[in-house]
Amino acid sequence: MSAAAGNRLPATLPARTIAVAHGDGIGPEIMAATLRVLAAADPALTFHEVSLGLKAYEAGHAGGFDGDALDVIASHGVLLKAPLSTPQGGGFKSVNVTLRKTLGLFANVRPCVAYHPALPAPHPGMDLVVVRENEEDTYAGIEHRQTDEVVQCLKLITRPGCERIVRHAFEYAVANGRRKVTCMTKDNIMKLTDGLFHAVFEEIAPEYPGIATEHMIIDIGTARVATRPRDFDVIVTPNLYGDILSDVAAEVAGSIGLAPSANIGYGAAMFEAVHGSAPDIAGKDLANPSGLLLSAVMMLVHLGRGAPATLVHNAWLRTLEDGVLTGDVAAAGQVRRVGTQAFADAVIERLGQAPTRLRAVDYPSRTETTAAAPARTLSVARRPAADKQLEGVDLFLHWDQDGRSPAALGARLERIAGPDFSLELITNRGVKVYPNGNARTLCSDHWRCRFRAPAGVSPLAIAALMARAAHAGLDVIKTENLYRFDGKAGYSQAQGA
Ligand code: NAI
Repeated sequence: MSAAAGNRLPATLPARTIAVAHGDGIGPEIMAATLRVLAAADPALTFHEVSLGLKAYEAGHAGGFDGDALDVIASHGVLLKAPLSTPQGGGFKSVNVTLRKTLGLFANVRPCVAYHPALPAPHPGMDLVVVRENEEDTYAGIEHRQTDEVVQCLKLITRPGCERIVRHAFEYAVANGRRKVTCMTKDNIMKLTDGLFHAVFEEIAPEYPGIATEHMIIDIGTARVATRPRDFDVIVTPNLYGDILSDVAAEVAGSIGLAPSANIGYGAAMFEAVHGSAPDIAGKDLANPSGLLLSAVMMLVHLGRGAPATLVHNAWLRTLEDGVLTGDVAAAGQVRRVGTQAFADAVIERLGQAPTRLRAVDYPSRTETTAAAPARTLSVARRPAADKQLEGVDLFLHWDQDGRSPAALGARLERIAGPDFSLELITNRGVKVYPNGNARTLCSDHWRCRFRAPAGVSPLAIAALMARAAHAGLDVIKTENLYRFDGKAGYSQAQGA
């Protein structure tokens, strides 16, 4: 883009109010700096302050939310949020998690960019975006202790959840002139959960013929992001992998302190820096406001306010290029080291200028249709229900007798199988230990016992089986039904089976 395009002052924009949370630690300082830049670039914006985190907690709001904060955020549809301190080992639950869940912020979008040569980076030209599913996976927070030795966390992946995040990644790619979307999963091991995510990716990809696609296993994918980040453009991945990968990518870009993020839902969106509240430097005018400022740029783009977004982003790039830097990124040499507020002043002074060596941006403007709704509807179609056949059950037992001998447990279970079932196998920690197990397998007190009824069985027969187990003194801690969906097994096979 030419410098002239970066010089354009925004045309008159409609008035828009956004919710802002000033946060804890360095939050108030970097928010003040960011709001001053926003006010200079987009005077039609107004800010409605909400109190979240420690401030709200100390004012007597046990959840970390001021009375009507959630309603205010929902009514404006957009929240610009400074980092919040999370008390460790007590206090209120994570406000971030509550916000994500209450507002349905299903997509976490994190651009990871190297700003070489303004900031020396190991991979000049790196410019990728991680689109992380934000609500499901092991983050559903469903955990149970089941035996003396074993705890479990439920990994939930839903088809609608996969459809909307994958579609969001492709829509993001189209809207931002990206060329490729890479899906990362571990479906070689988790064939059902990660397999569904990958399958949905393959189903949706043909709807975007202009975008190249690929799939990588998350472990090698993360390694490649660390060593060859320029090979990537947009990456879409489930929640846990995305959590780790996006930090790796931001670190590789050399700029975790500069990294912005967007949390997008259908009716609301939240924008925040990736870093935390940095209590060690709070109140000293040392903090870098860039992560929050770039998050505010993402917010303006999301709202269709392309002109002020372009203005702020280019002025920020120019500030870096001119060597005006906060202490966290200022290496020795030809730089002017400044504090938080002076950095904001330097960006404001450069509003209307574009970078000359770094790539300038030019965001499109559009009319905001509904409160922060994505440009194109991403609604998920309901599919017809599958033909579902019940063909057995996995009984999970807490059992610590007979020296934990699988053969002894097998003999007891064979006696309760009754006419409806046959005992197919027993596994411990997923590994088959009966029949014909390996004596070297480490056995915990948690056993999965698979009873099969290939001709089909009723739920009542399963209840009767559980009753026989209880009468035999066996401690059934949970069951999982074995279904076939349209003829296809809806459960994993045992390892070593
Ligand atoms: P942190 O990101 O706050 O700090 C890590 C290091 O980076 C510190 O040395 C800090 O001084 C430095 N740093 C962070 N942001 C900076 C900035 N803008 N400019 C210059 N230096 C910066 O991570 P930490 O120490 O693990 O967490 C502190 C608090 O922040 C905790 O209570 C944590 O729960 C919270 N937190 C909140 C987040 C959020 O609200 N989204 C995200 C991460 C942490």
